[in-house]
Amino acid sequence: MRSPLHLLPGSFFLACLFLAGTGHAQTPSLAMTPPMGWNTWTKFACHVDEALIRSGADQMVASGMKDAGYQYIVIDDCWHGQRDAAGNIQPDPKLFPAGIKALADYVHSRGLKFGIYTDAGTKTCAGRPGSRGHEFQDALQYAAWGVDYLKEDWCSTGKQNAESSYETMHDALVAAGRPIVFSICEWGTANPYLWGKSVGGNLWRTTGDIADKFQGKDDYRFGMIDIVDMNEDLYSFAGPGHWNDPDMLQVGNGGMTPTEYRTHFSMWAMMASPLMAGNDLAHMSDDTKSILMNKEVIAIDQDALGKAGRRIRKEGDLEVWSREISGGYRAVVLLNRGTAAKDITVHWTDLGYPASVNAEVRDLWQAKNVERVKDSYTAQVASHGVVMLTVKP
Ligand code: GLA
Repeated sequence: MRSPLHLLPGSFFLACLFLAGTGHAQTPSLAMTPPMGWNTWTKFACHVDEALIRSGADQMVASGMKDAGYQYIVIDDCWHGQRDAAGNIQPDPKLFPAGIKALADYVHSRGLKFGIYTDAGTKTCAGRPGSRGHEFQDALQYAAWGVDYLKEDWCSTGKQNAESSYETMHDALVAAGRPIVFSICEWGTANPYLWGKSVGGNLWRTTGDIADKFQGKDDYRFGMIDIVDMNEDLYSFAGPGHWNDPDMLQVGNGGMTPTEYRTHFSMWAMMASPLMAGNDLAHMSDDTKSILMNKEVIAIDQDALGKAGRRIRKEGDLEVWSREISGGYRAVVLLNRGTAAKDITVHWTDLGYPASVNAEVRDLWQAKNVERVKDSYTAQVASHGVVMLTVKP
């Protein structure tokens, strides 16, 4: 007679089938806080090769960025060669002669994680082979290479349905069996914040591409502060495991002033955005380093509650933003979009505290406790600048 244990393999099989069928069994835990890393696109576009990626990994460690929390080294578009006779995607043999597995191994040997890029359509935005119709094969290939993070773009998708296209790739990643952060890059067109979480996305782009300028369009790309406006009212869709992605950081690329880059970095932290540096890590100014590695601002971005902040007051060019952080505290940004320095006041009652509360106010960019005050706090804010605070009753 068979023991009742003979049932185990069958129920185990059913449980596996169930988990695979749900399509998003394991992934939220991959991004309990917004992913942090470096991506090649913003600075290097199609000028990618294995030397750049190795050097990116080296610099990530040597600069202190790894210690500050940056983890993923992501090759964006243009790494692809052709598919082989069996349809398996291959890297461009001239740019990546040692192959992607060796590169991923190198990145892992530096204590970092490795990311790659594909597209949900027939071609990537730079015209390389897309994953349409090859999702399961590509996911197996990425898993075999040791990929930890996949960004999937939205070019050449014709009449494809966005939600089901991304669900297919996510099912493929789950079936491939390796935990891989899934970054949906659909530009916000089909409202991915409504379905990104249910198709297993860990982050989804909410906007078009970011330009290296404070405001206004540059070709097809949007100014940094315009992106903030597009992303702001989506705050309720972000949370541990699934984040709004207002695109990568332009910090250090030269198109904005250090003041504007501090604003950029502060706003991304307030919105609980992924922090994907997009600059040349081998040539960073002291300003760039001090922005990208401001541990107190990064701690706001990475706060464990995972609640994105929002704009709580706007008077013309002057804004107050608040983000609830662990401990019942608030991170606050006073933002001046105007062309002259101005005083901006945050009122405790706007933060949900009684005016009578005596709160400790710390200025994160000056790295000092400014005072313990009741009712409100006022600071002068530079043009295009921020004052970023924590307010702790
Ligand atoms: C799109 C994406 C960018 C980048 C490029 C690559 O524009 O939004 O982030 O990946 O494609 O071609």
